[in-house]
Parts: sequence; C-alpha cells; structure tokens
Amino acid sequence: MRYAYHFEFCERPELPEWLRGELFESLGWVQSSFGLERVLGATVPEFVLEARASRLIELGSGSGRGLASVAAGLDRKGARVPTLATDKYPQTELWRARFGGQAAEVGVSWSERAVGFEDFDQCLAAETLAGSVLLLTAAFHHMDPVRARAFLERAADVRASVVVVEPLERSWVGALLGGLAGLPALAAPLSAARARTLAGFLRTVLVHWLVPVVPLILSHDGVVSALRQRTPADWTALTADLPFERSDRLGLGLLQNFSAILLKYPS
Ligand SMILES: C[S@@+](CC[C@H](N)C(=O)[O-])C[C@H]1O[C@@H](n2cnc3c(N)ncnc32)[C@H](O)[C@@H]1O
Repeated sequence: MRYAYHFEFCERPELPEWLRGELFESLGWVQSSFGLERVLGATVPEFVLEARASRLIELGSGSGRGLASVAAGLDRKGARVPTLATDKYPQTELWRARFGGQAAEVGVSWSERAVGFEDFDQCLAAETLAGSVLLLTAAFHHMDPVRARAFLERAADVRASVVVVEPLERSWVGALLGGLAGLPALAAPLSAARARTLAGFLRTVLVHWLVPVVPLILSHDGVVSALRQRTPADWTALTADLPFERSDRLGLGLLQNFSAILLKYPS
C-alpha cells in the first residue's frame, strides 16, 4: 500500500483542550486493550537499556498512559532512568493525576511548556538531550517525510537515540484496524480512570455515547494514521547517511500490528 499523508483531527490546534484530553485518554485505553502496554512495558525498556540512555524523554506523550507503562517496565528491571513527559499540547492535568504520586517511585516528571517535534532541541537543554532516548509512541506518523527527516537530523545533532512505537502497520489490515478503533472506545467511559469526578464522567459519557464524536474521530484518525506508517524500506531511506544503528521489532501485539524501531546513536 502506498504512503499517503492526509488530515488528522487530533493534531489540529483548534481542538479544545478538554476534547483533546478525552481523545488521548480514550486512545490510551484502546491501545492498551490490544496489548500496547506489553510492548511499552517490555520492548521499550529493553531498547532504553540497549541505548544506555541517560534519560528518557517522550515527545507527544498525550495522556501519559503509555509512558507510565514504560516507566513501570524500567522500574521492574531495576533501571533508574529519569523520565520526562512532553507534548506540543501539554496535558498537565492528566500528567499530574497520573504521575504525581508515582514521580518519586519511578522518576517521571513533565514539562508544562509546549515541546514540539519541530523545536524540542530549542526547548530542552543540549546536555539534557545528549545521550538520551527520545520516545515517540503513536506520534512519529504526525510528521510527513520532510519533517520526519529534519527531526531525525536534529536528534542526531544532539546525539540522542530515537525509539518509535506505532500501533498500526501500513496495510489493508492496518487501515481496517484503524477504522475499527472507535468501537472499543465506546467502552472507555467504563474505565476506572474516568471516574475521578462526576462532572468528568458525565463529559466522557456525552462525547462517547450521547454525541459519539470521540469514537468517530478515533476511527477517522486511525485509518489516516495507518496510511502514514513507515515500512522498513521507508526507514532505510529516512535514516540514510545518519549515524544511527537500527533495530526493528515488527508484528508485535495481540493483532501483530504494532512495531517498535530503535535508532541508536552510537556510544
Ligand atoms: C496519537 S497521540 C499519541 C499520544 C500518546 N503517545 C499515546 O500513545 O497515547 C499523538 C500525540 O502527538 C502529539 N503531537 C502532535 N503533533 C505534535 C508536534 N508537532 N509536536 C509534539 N507533539 C505533537 C499530540 O498532541 C498527541 O499527544
């Protein structure tokens, strides 16, 4: 299937923050239903240790749910790697709720300042980035080939490794699974994390059941993001002449549609 870069709702700056929070919280729920937490809790910590990372910095953390699985996986391995959640649209309220109590145990902190794929090297200090792993979960596909190449060049310039986890492959099966992503999202209001306040729960019920805008957006963005995925040949072209050593793990997860790519900056 050919690569195509179409419009996704979830990356639009016009989206109200509360709706973005609902979308990303539901996305985290859908992804974990298909086993993403296993990939994040086992494969990503292995990559972080293989890269001998001084720090783990997630770009595009969304709800932070995925990063919590990675941090717990590192903790299970006895690895103390300082971990930072960031996003162009920081979900500070969700992160405080998710990591506030956990921060001391697994060392997760977050940036209240917006950090983008385009300007991470200006937002974060060079000494913070050198030797770190930049993690992008369900986020690298937001960059078209030109931006993706520019991002990788800047990562190499600051001597950071990159780990890309994507929950869909570019294929008819991937597009179909992406289109079905809205179905499990219908169960998201039942998740315990939603029950923090009555007002929050009612808002979740509104946008999932009464006016199901969240499931519809997730299905649309799911198909579009499948078409934006990279094949191993695309990765070879994207990283040509860059100093990274690449390891691919493909066909992961319950439906064998997840992938994890490590681009290790040589030590
Ligand atoms: C599909 S969500 C994935 C969120 C989270 N990593 C997860 O797996 O649940 C993509 C994330 O990328 C973020 N994002 C989109 N464009 C971005 C940009 N240019 N710079 C940084 N983050 C961006 C969005 O705000 C969102 O949090």
